[in-house]
Amino acid sequence: MVAVAVLAAGKGTRMKSEVPKVLHPLAGKPLVERVIRSTQGLPVERLLVVVGHGADQVRQALAHLPQVEFVEQSPLLGTGHAVQQLVPYLEDYTGDLLVLNGDVPLLRPETLVQLWETHQQGNYAVTLLTALLADPTGYGRVICDGQMQVSAIIEDRDCTPAQRQNQRVNAGIYCFQWPKLRDVLPRLTTQNQQQEYYLTDAIQWLKPARAVDMQDSTEILGINDRKQLAVATQLFYERLRDEWLRRGVTMIDPDSVTIEDEVELAPDVVIEPQTHLRGRTVIGAGSHIGPNCWLENSTVGEKVRIWYSVVTNSVIAAGCQVGPFAHLRDQTQVGEHCRVGNFVEMKKTQVGPDCRVAHLSYLGDAQLGTQVNVGAGTITANFDGRDKHPTVIKDGCKLGANCVLVAPVTLGEGVTVAAGSVVTEDVPADALVIARARQVVKPGWRPPYMRNTSYDGGN
Ligand code: UD1
Ligand code: CA
Repeated sequence: MVAVAVLAAGKGTRMKSEVPKVLHPLAGKPLVERVIRSTQGLPVERLLVVVGHGADQVRQALAHLPQVEFVEQSPLLGTGHAVQQLVPYLEDYTGDLLVLNGDVPLLRPETLVQLWETHQQGNYAVTLLTALLADPTGYGRVICDGQMQVSAIIEDRDCTPAQRQNQRVNAGIYCFQWPKLRDVLPRLTTQNQQQEYYLTDAIQWLKPARAVDMQDSTEILGINDRKQLAVATQLFYERLRDEWLRRGVTMIDPDSVTIEDEVELAPDVVIEPQTHLRGRTVIGAGSHIGPNCWLENSTVGEKVRIWYSVVTNSVIAAGCQVGPFAHLRDQTQVGEHCRVGNFVEMKKTQVGPDCRVAHLSYLGDAQLGTQVNVGAGTITANFDGRDKHPTVIKDGCKLGANCVLVAPVTLGEGVTVAAGSVVTEDVPADALVIARARQVVKPGWRPPYMRNTSYDGGN
């Protein structure tokens, strides 16, 4: 078992933001939550998050993770000071403490598992992640010998020109034997460029101290400004796309596609350019999505074709065709083999199998049975200015073009609605309803100014 502490109290001045740095989202989740998720391969027995700047906002953003214990740091006097705040929380604790910077969101869970295993096998006082970077600017430099035994970490600002040449950087990710770290914490001072208590200064008094070089240095990217956030976001999406390509998904132009980490795709899904899959979206085998789609928290069955459409919090069953330019939202459910066509919007609507809503419709709070055909331009009027009302359209109904169904209203099975009808009352099964003015034809009628002239065809 291991205790985890995430340092998340800093302001993040270089983000130039009202939002605390660790709450900036990366692919839909705050940085600090990404960091917490990177520990999911470990047997975590305590999860402490050090909060300071924007503490209330950070607490709120993590409220859905009940195992988190919050530790206040005030004032903010550096990473060493942040760890000093843990002492009262870990009084009787004698195990390992994994310390993670709250702004390092790309760590893979496997990496932390390996770090902890190395730490345990070597019985080190501290084991830390390092990487050799072509451009180490801004990172603390790790001084170690040929056996990767660390003697010190020196912050970029405090380095001599010679030390600055050292390309081995500190990732800000450490596994400590907590009792040994606790014993040296009181020795930290603020005698450095930033006049802060540096956690990195503790390393010099801990023996043996071991550095573990990362092969993939992108994992330790720290987010200090928006440029780094953008780079990390790209790397994160690229990783997920590579994974789906390996697992049998086709992408026509991968760089233009974003897929969040809770999305699930079956093999033989095809994703066209500019398609964005968000939240808990699931797509069944053989479905073909895009170009230009946004799918969020939605479930799509097998062999569905969706293009140029927005689908949120909805379910589309197997064999449907959706779009171009459809918008399905708010718990809409479309049954198997339906066609939802151009410029169709559905809100909180259930559609049975084999229905066609092919052109220019709005269906809100509606329930359609099976094999219903909705004509072009037909809509539900579901809102009376104060409340929303339901529309029920039972199996086999045929609705002509440009009808308005004024809710609440129910059409029984097999009803036919004449084109242009405004239906305000329920209709029993197997009936024809015509709810429009009868056409009037006046033979020989002309506008008054033409009455005494001979017809010239309008020229
Ligand atoms: C830190 C390391 C540096 C390492 C780099 C890796 C120190 C002194 N330096 O530098 O060696 O190369 O990370 O990214 O540790 N925080 C607090 N309380 C504070 C100050 C910071 O909780 O008083 C938190 C911040 O929210 C942040 C993390 O600690 O999540 C790191 O702080 P930051 O100021 O970004 O440290 P760096 O200068 O990047
Ligand atoms: Ca940082």
